[in-house]
This record gives sequence, structure tokens and C-alpha cells, in this order.
Amino acid sequence: MIKEVVVILLNMPLKIFQSPFVYWRQLSEDDHKRIKSKMMKDINLLDEVKQDKDDGLHNATTNYVTKYNKNELVSEDYIKTIVKDTVTELIQRINGSKNLLYTIDYVDHAVLNAWYTKYEKGGNFDWHDHYSVPYIINDHVYHSSFSLIYILNDESDKNVTIFGTNQTVCSPPFQNSSGILLDTGDFDDIKEGTVIIFPSNLSHKVLQSINSNRIVVSYNIYSRY
Ligand SMILES: [Fe+2]
Repeated sequence: MIKEVVVILLNMPLKIFQSPFVYWRQLSEDDHKRIKSKMMKDINLLDEVKQDKDDGLHNATTNYVTKYNKNELVSEDYIKTIVKDTVTELIQRINGSKNLLYTIDYVDHAVLNAWYTKYEKGGNFDWHDHYSVPYIINDHVYHSSFSLIYILNDESDKNVTIFGTNQTVCSPPFQNSSGILLDTGDFDDIKEGTVIIFPSNLSHKVLQSINSNRIVVSYNIYSRY
């Protein structure tokens, strides 16, 4: 009897709207070791051409610039291992989820902005997001879609990035109806070597860095639909 009820319930229609997400994966030890060894040298060279500091960043340095920014951080190996493999996994996971109203359908993606941020002890970054206007590449429109953070160097075992959404839902039954936070420090598997991907318009902040020389590399991804 109970089994029949369960079967009927599973067959009833349920549609879940698109929603913000945070997805992460750990690079293999070999991949992280190889990339870290080269990327740290690349960043040391980029240090010398350090450009404008972003608003909201404290006790930290970056080579971030608001315009199109291609540099050593977009080499083929980095893009394949850090960005492409993560985007592929992410889209497979989302599109494989049951009951989604829409799945993600795209033609291809492009990385148009890559930068590092190096935090000293106590360094932090106020709330912000990475959303931007679309770019035209070869007569095709590429829309700001995902952003990605690679934790390149961090000696602490607790990550300091917090994500937040003010999307509202009814409470009860949901908790925190007026918005919810995801503290990546609550997850032991988010540490050096982890890649975190999220919608480019999802707000996040960086709490005070626990150790000095915490280095993250960020990528902004644009998608053609
Ligand atoms: Fe950010």
C-alpha cells in the first residue's frame, strides 16, 4: 500500500525553477601540482604589471581590470583543466537534475577575463558579483554566464568565501525566507586546489584571510546560446 502511494507521488508533476547554485570540484593532485608550479611564476611576472585595484578589496593586490583581460592565466592547459572540465561537469550535473523547468543549452563558452588576487593576512573583499554586459566575438553575442575561482595557494584549512542570495521564498516551509548564505568555510573539501563555479551574478564576499599569501585566480565565462 505504502509502495503504491510512493509510486503515484513520484509520477506527479513537479517543476523546479532555475536557481542560484555553487558547485565545486577538487583538481587531481597531479593537475594542481603542475598548474601551481607554473602559475605562481606567471603571477610573479604579472605582479610587475599590476594595474588598477578593484573597489572593495582590502589588504590584497590584484591584476584585475574591468576591460577584456587576456594574459598568461588563460593558457590552454589552465583553461582546459580549470575551466572547461569544470563547466562540463557543472552542466552535466544541472541538466541531469530531475524536474528542472529549463536545462542549460549553449553553443560554446569563452573566457574573456582572468585575474589573480593575492590576500595578506586579514585581507578581504566586500560584497560584489562578476556580472557584465555581453561581448561580441566573431559576430556572435556571448553573455556573462558563470564565474569561477581557483584556490591556488592557501595554507589554511578553512576557505573564506561566502555566497549570498536575497531571492525570497515562503517561510515556513523554507528557512531564511529573505535570503540565504553559503559559507564555504563550512565544507572541509573546499581548500587549496579547489575550483568553485557559480552564476556570474551571484553575490559573494571574502572574509578576512586567515594566513598571508592566499592566492586565488578568477575567470569570467561568457556563453553563446
Ligand atoms: Fe569575486
